[in-house]
Amino acid sequence: MALLIQNGDIVNATGRCRADLWCEGETVTRLAPGLAVPPDFAGEAEVIDATGKLVFPGFIDPHTHIYLPFMGTFSKDDYASGTRAALLGGTTTLFDMCIPGRGVPPWEGFHTWAEQAAGRAACDYAFHLGIGGGGEAYRAELAEVVKQTGQTSFKVFLAYKNALDLSDADLYATLKLGRKLGVRTTAHCENAELIAERQAELLAAGKTGPEWHHESRPPRVEALGVHHLCSFAELTDASVYIVHLSCQEALQEALAARGRGVDVAVETLIQHLVLTHEETKRPAFEGAKFVMSPPLREKHHQEVLWARLADGVIDTVATDHAPFDFEGQKEMGRGDFTKIPNGIPSLEERVKVLFSEGVATGRLTPERFVEVASTNAAKLFGLYPRKGLLAPGSDADVVIYDPGAKSCISAATHAMNVDYNPFEGMAITGRPETVILRGEVAVRDGKFVGTAGRGQLLRRDRGA
Ligand code: URP
Ligand code: ZN
Ligand code: ZN
Repeated sequence: MALLIQNGDIVNATGRCRADLWCEGETVTRLAPGLAVPPDFAGEAEVIDATGKLVFPGFIDPHTHIYLPFMGTFSKDDYASGTRAALLGGTTTLFDMCIPGRGVPPWEGFHTWAEQAAGRAACDYAFHLGIGGGGEAYRAELAEVVKQTGQTSFKVFLAYKNALDLSDADLYATLKLGRKLGVRTTAHCENAELIAERQAELLAAGKTGPEWHHESRPPRVEALGVHHLCSFAELTDASVYIVHLSCQEALQEALAARGRGVDVAVETLIQHLVLTHEETKRPAFEGAKFVMSPPLREKHHQEVLWARLADGVIDTVATDHAPFDFEGQKEMGRGDFTKIPNGIPSLEERVKVLFSEGVATGRLTPERFVEVASTNAAKLFGLYPRKGLLAPGSDADVVIYDPGAKSCISAATHAMNVDYNPFEGMAITGRPETVILRGEVAVRDGKFVGTAGRGQLLRRDRGA
């Protein structure tokens, strides 16, 4: 298996150059102008002409829910459909949240997720280990899972009262363990108690539709969650990562903590960058398609998110891909918005929408695009320089991107196993034309040609 990619513009987070890329087996072995197929590979290597194309390292989604038992149902994708959609969208590695729920021992949780993925995944993947309990025995087992599997990150929830939320005592102990193991703790930051109180008030006042979801968890509720997490991180010297940060108030709390020396990384979502709270007001309960937490916000937050993404303050853009059908699943919340399964699918669209709305509009340089959609996740979660970089020695995960291609997003043509697309009708500039995973073409001319089961569970180092 050998590949020569010629005449493309190679874009890494650190810069770009016109060069050729030679990949042997699963690895990039040479990057230089004017490369030719070496004589001992004559007739065996595939040559791809990338003239006029951008050549990116494979994109990394640091936050997905391919398999997710949640709010009385399950997310719709499985690892076959989810990773196929990921590859079609240019994502070659994803981090799924392994969240088996309260009381499930860490090994059992890990094995459940690993069994879901094995034999189905077509792209590479890793897990953030969800914390579903406390006590010394639980944490000792968790430490073993980290050591034996190389899954070097945790996931905690400060939201979802009586379901996924963690007590302060367990949060404190988890962060101390993370510090000891060199493990970064990712966190959903919203104040669970405030949400529960406000939900009850709204329902009692007859405010039951999806448009009230935002009112139950406004920006200050998220900011309070970020303040809480960062205070605990400050006192434990732990490294933390705020998932799906959606608003200016929450970002200010994270920046204040950074100013005090807290090691806090920030993720935002493609949904929060381009969709607003207005979507939840669609008639005939269609607003339920746009219910997620933290909620979609008002437009003015987007300007802040884009600016802070461009200037290096926000580290990553993820999807938080949590696909629930409108029919039969989102509909569970008719008459009570608190029962709408939270989540918006986007695994297939993140890279395309970010390029189209970010790079093609001039908001992001191509280098910064690579950094927030690939390189920073690799660095933060212990995969760099194997992933997130095109250089000799890196995995041959390559996305050949046609920057001028035009398309329109639609559920009628998407590969995600869900009955709607939140970006329906959006005009897109640019597309991942060829996607290569560890030296093997998985998407050719926009069509999936990958292999279910070829995706690997990645052992990771400690992150940056
Ligand atoms: O609404 C969301 N974000 N659903 C998925 C679960 C989570 O909170 O990340
Ligand atoms: Zn969350
Ligand atoms: Zn999530």
